[in-house]
Amino acid sequence: MPATDPAVLSMGEPLLEFNAAAEGTLESSTAFLAGFGGDTSNMAIAARRSGASTGYVTRVGDDAFGRALTDLWQREGVDTTHVVTEPGGETGSYFITRHGDGQHAFTYRRAGSPASRLTPADVPERAVAAAELLHISGITQAVGPSACDAAFHAMETARAHSTLVSYDPNHRPALWPAARARAIVMRSAELADIVLPNLNEGRLLTGVHEPADVLAAFAGRGPAIVVLKMGADGVLLGEEGRTTHVPAHRVVPTDATGAGDTFDGAFAARLLDGDSPLEAARYAVIAAALTTTGHGAVGPIPNREAVLQAGDLRR
Ligand SMILES: Nc1ncnc2c1ncn2[C@@H]1O[C@H](COP(=O)(O)OP(=O)(O)OP(=O)(O)O)[C@@H](O)[C@H]1O
Ligand SMILES: [Mg+2]
Repeated sequence: MPATDPAVLSMGEPLLEFNAAAEGTLESSTAFLAGFGGDTSNMAIAARRSGASTGYVTRVGDDAFGRALTDLWQREGVDTTHVVTEPGGETGSYFITRHGDGQHAFTYRRAGSPASRLTPADVPERAVAAAELLHISGITQAVGPSACDAAFHAMETARAHSTLVSYDPNHRPALWPAARARAIVMRSAELADIVLPNLNEGRLLTGVHEPADVLAAFAGRGPAIVVLKMGADGVLLGEEGRTTHVPAHRVVPTDATGAGDTFDGAFAARLLDGDSPLEAARYAVIAAALTTTGHGAVGPIPNREAVLQAGDLRR
């Protein structure tokens, strides 16, 4: 048990990342940069780098990838009390390739991963009750039925103890059928205080097109805050019936992997630090933009000083 309970707990699947060094197909790629990914792990690291005490809940294998990830969290100061190491488990990984049109392709090797075997028994109920914010994503729910049960158990435990629930749909069509995704994501929005979809998945999950309508469809499920992430167009923030557009921070992007996760972590850290949702969103668009200027998901996540320096945010 850590000396003090983390304010932010994130739960889901971490992955090793292999990012092709040059443009091209996976078949033709010969060199890869190793890194780390997994949306909820990225979020935990982003929240930590923005100053929140943070813990991660997952299962990894007792393999090299599991050890590398555990070392990463420990280096970052992310609490690993609730990381279960599974004997014989094979921690998942993914490959990123880039194509001429600026598009990325992701190839996953994660079926049967330890994190897909998360169960409600892995939810640290006491730590969830003690935390200020729990973060869950649609990927946490999509990787396996028992992991989905664990996600709901964690969210219900959080609600019962006034721990805020932050939820990112992060819809990945390869992981689950659209109808199941829709049902589970929209139910999760009912349990969440903060919902953070991107525009594409928001359209797919709600069936409406206009950003304001997508935002309203999520807000109608009851969360106090909805943040609709729109890439280079920034975010639409919905709270207390008001909608505010927060423009993106201008950068020259090279790799947008993990920008949304960084937004989620930075936003949570600042809210817990006392920012209003609008102040937190202004901070988080800068943090998210900065992650797009370097390769890979975790390496370029900025710390608080870098965000404050890049933006005109005096605090
Ligand atoms: N090209 C860009 N320039 C500036 N900011 C950007 C850019 N792309 C993304 N961002 C910032 O990052 C935020 C999140 O990005 P995006 O909308 O792509 O989320 P996402 O699709 O959830 O990302 P992820 O791939 O991590 O799931 C945006 O709302 C924006 O503030
Ligand atoms: Mg996303």
